[in-house]
Amino acid sequence: MGKRLEGKSAVVTGAGRGIGRGIALALADEGAQVVVNDLGGESDGTGASRSPADEVVKEITGSGGKAVASYGSVASFADAEKMIKAAVDNFGKIDILVNVAGNDRGKMVFNMAEDDWDVVLACHLKGTFNTTKFASQLMRQQRSGRIINCTSAAGLVGDMGHSNYCAAKAGIFGFTRACALELGKYGITSNCFMPAASTRMAALVTEEIIQRRKAEGFDLESLGITWPLPNPDDIGPVVAYLATEEAANINGQVIGVAGGKVWLYSIMSEIKTIYKDGRWTVDELAKLMPRTLAANLVNPMPPKKG
Ligand SMILES: NC(=O)c1ccc[n+]([C@@H]2O[C@H](COP(=O)([O-])OP(=O)(O)OC[C@H]3O[C@@H](n4cnc5c(N)ncnc54)[C@H](O)[C@@H]3O)[C@@H](O)[C@H]2O)c1
Repeated sequence: MGKRLEGKSAVVTGAGRGIGRGIALALADEGAQVVVNDLGGESDGTGASRSPADEVVKEITGSGGKAVASYGSVASFADAEKMIKAAVDNFGKIDILVNVAGNDRGKMVFNMAEDDWDVVLACHLKGTFNTTKFASQLMRQQRSGRIINCTSAAGLVGDMGHSNYCAAKAGIFGFTRACALELGKYGITSNCFMPAASTRMAALVTEEIIQRRKAEGFDLESLGITWPLPNPDDIGPVVAYLATEEAANINGQVIGVAGGKVWLYSIMSEIKTIYKDGRWTVDELAKLMPRTLAANLVNPMPPKKG
């Protein structure tokens, strides 16, 4: 057990299972007191159960740590406020917020129901805003804090079969960058981690789906993910490190974690430019683009005949 987070108070959402559970245990192992939030539902966002959060609280307290359970949904503004209040009521403050709660409803965009979109965006993107809104108010007053959000290669690079999830995870990246800029001056850092781990949610991507996508011309390994996926508990120490004082200068970044591999993503930047004094015509662009910006571009999914 380390001491780097001793005296710190943390809220981890989606901490009842998988990656969130490993993060809650790692924070507690470094001395933090943890609000273990989990709605306890199914991967598709339906249902609820108290036992996943209760089990993790038992694990932490059983090893001599301090933890309390919170069963609300991050998708609810009112529940999110209660999660942050639970940290203040039980541990006196909120120093660390880790947004991990997640669901998924895989469908092609042309088959996706409005509800499939809304449920996934509400949990990942609105959920990340909901908790951050209340935590950042208190962190701003105390002039310190760590906000650590879970994104995905699916959002950063793109994936097939769940555009709702991809959009939510890309949104979390944009939201995190905005928070880094808005809150940095108050001593608050906001970063993303990008995990790959064998969990209930990862099991939704079956071997059949992997092969079907390959046949379509999309190899999931192009996202930098290789099978078998590593242990979800490998993510926790990296997130715990981001929560320490030593990580004060890491702000607005995306850190990937898969087993023992930890990497830094580039932030989008201009890579090729054309310039003229004034407005381009379509004719000029049609001539110039193939030789400049569009030269050597690869269409990730070219049209198929028939
Ligand atoms: N497993 C991977 O390889 C992988 C890759 C990229 C991103 N992620 C992300 O990691 C996060 C954790 O997922 P996981 O793989 O551990 O899956 P998981 O299903 O094991 O864990 C997700 C947890 O979130 C909880 N949850 C769902 N909706 C909630 C809500 N509205 N409020 C509170 N809790 C809620 C669930 O009950 C569950 O315990 C997710 O955000 C997921 O998108 C996972």
